[in-house]
Amino acid sequence: MKRIAALTLFLAAGSVLAAPFPAGDAQAGKKLFEQNKCNRCHVDMMGGDGSAIFTRPNHKVTSPEKMVQQMHTCSGGAGISLSAQDEQNLGAYLNQRYYKFK
Ligand code: HEC
Repeated sequence: MKRIAALTLFLAAGSVLAAPFPAGDAQAGKKLFEQNKCNRCHVDMMGGDGSAIFTRPNHKVTSPEKMVQQMHTCSGGAGISLSAQDEQNLGAYLNQRYYKFK
């Protein structure tokens, strides 16, 4: 049992190194972002289409983990429910388009 757990951890760590959202589908993430109007508050804050929030100087999200945490805060505040898969998809989308974590 212990060996299996260790192996699972090893594999999980390996895929995190390979790409921050290995199970994410960026296309599906883009759809989720639009369907949930994720930028509705960001527009009020930043103007334009709101996406400047991801690239503003001193932006909050500095790692894939922080991105997921921020998604929890945002979706909780807005009453949006995201599955773990949704978070992977949104992460893949935002990472590919804005953050570019390796
Ligand atoms: C209820 C309003 C609201 C909604 C809806 C919302 N957000 Fe946010 N979002 C915020 C606020 C406010 C901040 C800035 C937080 C801060 O500066 O501490 C933010 C910041 C972020 C950031 C971090 C930007 C940075 O500084 O790097 C990400 C990523 C993000 N939101 C993703 C999402 C996603 C994905 C959704 C849709 C599921 C979403 N947000 C929907 C209010 C919202």
